[in-house]
Amino acid sequence: MNYTDQNEQIEYRLLFQKSPDPIILVGGDTKIKMANPAFSELVGEGIEQIIGKSFFDYIAPEERQQVFEYHKKRRIDPKLAPFRYKFTLLSKDGKKKIIDRTVILLPDGQTTLSILRDITSYKQLEAQLIQAQKMEAIGRLVAGIVHDFNNMLQAVMCHTQFLLSKLDRDNPGWKHAYEIDRLAHRTAELIHKLLVFSRNQDIRPRPINLNQVIDNMKDMICRIIGEDIQCTFYLDNNLWNINADASHIEQIIMNLIVNARDAMPHGGKLSIETKNVEINEAYASTHLIKVGAYVMLTISDTGIGMGEEVKQHAFEPFFTTKRDGTGLGLSTVYGIVKQYGGYIFVYSEINKGTTFKIYFPKGERTSICQMQCGKTEPTLKGKETILIVEDEEAVREILVEMLKELGYRVIEAKNGKEGLNIAKVHSGNIDVILTDIIMPHMDGKGFIKQIRDLYPGIKVIYMSGYPKNMVLENNSNITFIQKPFTTHQLSTKLRHILEESP
Ligand SMILES: Nc1ncnc2c1ncn2[C@@H]1O[C@H](COP(=O)(O)OP(=O)(O)OP(=O)(O)O)[C@@H](O)[C@H]1O
Ligand SMILES: [Mg+2]
Repeated sequence: MNYTDQNEQIEYRLLFQKSPDPIILVGGDTKIKMANPAFSELVGEGIEQIIGKSFFDYIAPEERQQVFEYHKKRRIDPKLAPFRYKFTLLSKDGKKKIIDRTVILLPDGQTTLSILRDITSYKQLEAQLIQAQKMEAIGRLVAGIVHDFNNMLQAVMCHTQFLLSKLDRDNPGWKHAYEIDRLAHRTAELIHKLLVFSRNQDIRPRPINLNQVIDNMKDMICRIIGEDIQCTFYLDNNLWNINADASHIEQIIMNLIVNARDAMPHGGKLSIETKNVEINEAYASTHLIKVGAYVMLTISDTGIGMGEEVKQHAFEPFFTTKRDGTGLGLSTVYGIVKQYGGYIFVYSEINKGTTFKIYFPKGERTSICQMQCGKTEPTLKGKETILIVEDEEAVREILVEMLKELGYRVIEAKNGKEGLNIAKVHSGNIDVILTDIIMPHMDGKGFIKQIRDLYPGIKVIYMSGYPKNMVLENNSNITFIQKPFTTHQLSTKLRHILEESP
């Protein structure tokens, strides 16, 4: 052997030894002839134990048949089997890993050289991304539906309230109107839950401590889970604050706990844990989570668990496996977590249990928002002139009727353009404008901008089937009312704005 050959041999050996990708030589009898340290690490066994073992011992049982077909066919004619494919590897400790395998048949026609690459975390990340994109798409769809439904509900509720105020209680029609009104309110509640999912509710975060929220809920948690379930709390004493609305956090905990209880009909263990965590680059690169400081809330049960199929759909609105479930519990949790810039992960195994891990970004100590207190006042009447701009005819008509009933003079317009022309004619006689925001031709914001060029001090109430934060910039000076609203809510808003000094 000359000097160059010798050098080349050393180089190849080094390549084999130091390669970060696992490499093996497999004989026609399926036995492993050579394995590098990376393969030893992958399967969790020493090289001495690996040599002589069948390669098929490392393949998940459900895939052995398929891989064996490739093994046989390749040795008859290399073109009959793929030279690159994915399979599930079974390591010494029973863990499954997804492997991308490249196979080269050596000149002897029997031995193969395989370069393996562990793509498990890449696959997991891909699955998380697909899941996140799917939830985004559902969120957009839901937001659109919510808007249209709120518009319809506005008309239904105005009509029924109108009827109820006109009919005597002993009129046979009263009962029906009452029932329609009740159902419309229930529908509005359901729509509100969807709004939470689509992350479009108005939130007022303030610094809160998760431990405190949990402490306040302890009694309730015990009552909900009953005596057969043992509940343990592991709360970090030095827990950071998060910025959130305590009622939303309570809702998350409640929904998860009710699910845990349902998953343990014969009793079991429930654990609730809080912890500060720092997500570093290494972790963030294999999980769909940004680098940063978080407060982690973990809720685990030892219940029936979820199969892959259930796990994939669990966060979708209306997905349920329960006879009387609405399937809105987890979608609400998901919506809230996302709205606060957090993350939620689920780990579950059939008959072993389920763990939900929620990461909330560590809170800043600033940004305490003022809570607005909703004063209740009686339905108030007025005599002023209102210009109502609304493109949806059914909504416009009933709102006009409702306002006239309250004593106001009402002028109506179908869109911003028409509203502008009317305002010019009536010049200074309009006391307040009640305008929809999303309209064809000229939207509410464009319309008001032009009106204000002409009449700078004019009072305006915006209304929409979308929540305020979705359709208007964050400006507390703007008066807004979300559809569907009641006569009482509108009359209160009107009096507030009309009695304010200009
Ligand atoms: N801790 C858990 N263990 C096992 N399965 C769960 C668990 N949590 C949720 N699931 C599964 O996810 C599905 C969706 O849960 P979600 O809370 O959204 O709706 P639901 O509980 O079925 O109905 P609702 O919350 O309206 O009562 C459940 O039907 C169940 O199959
Ligand atoms: Mg539920």
